[in-house]
Amino acid sequence: MTEIVFRLANGTEHRVQAQEGDTVMSAALKNGVPGIIAECGGSCSCATCHCYLPGDKINAFPAMESFEEEMLEGVASERLPTSRLSCQLNITPDHAGIVIDIPATQL
Ligand code: FES
Repeated sequence: MTEIVFRLANGTEHRVQAQEGDTVMSAALKNGVPGIIAECGGSCSCATCHCYLPGDKINAFPAMESFEEEMLEGVASERLPTSRLSCQLNITPDHAGIVIDIPATQL
């Protein structure tokens, strides 16, 4: 188990225990964290799992592939340099304590 933190746009924090094999998206859904919709179920084709990494942890996950880059063009909330699609972020024990910000809207 790896504890990560989701922070909503209103500042509310949700601490969750991610299991081995979880993505940031699946950890949010399994734990009822609001704000991650994930309409496509993780196949990188909906962009409703948009999240923001901490500015000092932008390299904490492998660099995005071109298809993620393209999907990020269509996110509903502002795209920032720290934007990622949470379904593409596999959690490892190295991510313990990371704070993931969830945008105000996904649609
Ligand atoms: S869940 Fe659809 S792009 Fe991530």
